[in-house]
Amino acid sequence: MKTIQLNTGAQMPMLGLGVFRISDKKQCRQAVLHAIRTGYRLIDTATAYTNEDAVGDAVRQAIDEGLCTREELFITSKVWVTDMKNYDTTRRAVEKSLKTSGLEYFDLYLEHQAMNDYFAAWRGLEGAYKDGQVRAIGVSNFYPHALANLCECVEIRPAVDQIEIHPFFIQREALVNMKRYGVIPEAWAPIGGGRYSPFKNEILQRIAEAHGKTVAQVMLRWNLDRGVVVIPKAARLEHIEENFNVWDFTLTPDENKEIETLDLGLGGQRTKHFDPDFVRMCLGK
Ligand SMILES: NC(=O)c1ccc[n+]([C@@H]2O[C@H](COP(=O)([O-])OP(=O)(O)OC[C@H]3O[C@@H](n4cnc5c(N)ncnc54)[C@H](OP(=O)(O)O)[C@@H]3O)[C@@H](O)[C@H]2O)c1
Repeated sequence: MKTIQLNTGAQMPMLGLGVFRISDKKQCRQAVLHAIRTGYRLIDTATAYTNEDAVGDAVRQAIDEGLCTREELFITSKVWVTDMKNYDTTRRAVEKSLKTSGLEYFDLYLEHQAMNDYFAAWRGLEGAYKDGQVRAIGVSNFYPHALANLCECVEIRPAVDQIEIHPFFIQREALVNMKRYGVIPEAWAPIGGGRYSPFKNEILQRIAEAHGKTVAQVMLRWNLDRGVVVIPKAARLEHIEENFNVWDFTLTPDENKEIETLDLGLGGQRTKHFDPDFVRMCLGK
């Protein structure tokens, strides 16, 4: 598995399984276990996904079956915004995630959104990092201005910023900004998250056909080649396997350029970060 170095010195796998919307515990456990059997070592969950327990169960089963050691795995979770009120609520949220998952530590723990008191919450995450409860800390959905502001003002800079990135929202400026601060970009919805109709797209179909690969594999490889970590969600076992099989072909510079012509310059079809009502909804108002 190809890895990328975080600002902590740790290596993060570049391809993982996301488990958003796999709320059925049995299905989540099965998906994570199948992914680990397939060779995945990175799993992305969150408090808000309500499946940290199923992820923890699958991790323990994988270790019991001798598929891998805990050290070989890279497990990410996230604090939800309603717990990001202050230092103490954030520390308690990390402790609750550890208890729910049954894990001794997370490899990466993120602020899920740039909402609530995210500076106070960041100090909470810094505390959890210093105490060894989490091995790296980062953010998610921090757009360039918010990420720059955080990086300029905190003691420990985020290791990762997990944002929406796919060929229809290529986020070029966000990547330039992350590079400046040594923050690793991680793509959520790397295959469009069920939106943008990528599987009917003529450009993606043609490029996939030319390599004997699928549209999903082309989308993942395009992000990987830009140095972006990808965490496609797949509940279907055949999708889990397909998404892992992305290392045996190379996109040409012309193909990469053509893929980037699909950029619409904006995402947020579901997650409307710039909509005040979305912010109020996340905060439970
Ligand atoms: N930080 C955040 O705010 C945030 C937001 C959204 C997501 N995320 C993270 O990012 C992960 C991925 O994002 P996402 O779930 O929104 O979108 P995504 O991974 O781009 O798309 C998931 C959808 O694509 C389908 N799919 C997967 N592999 C496929 C393949 N090879 N061919 C055809 N369809 C395929 C899945 O179907 P099946 O499930 O039926 O296999 C599912 O419907 C999440 O699970 C989560 O961990 C984070």
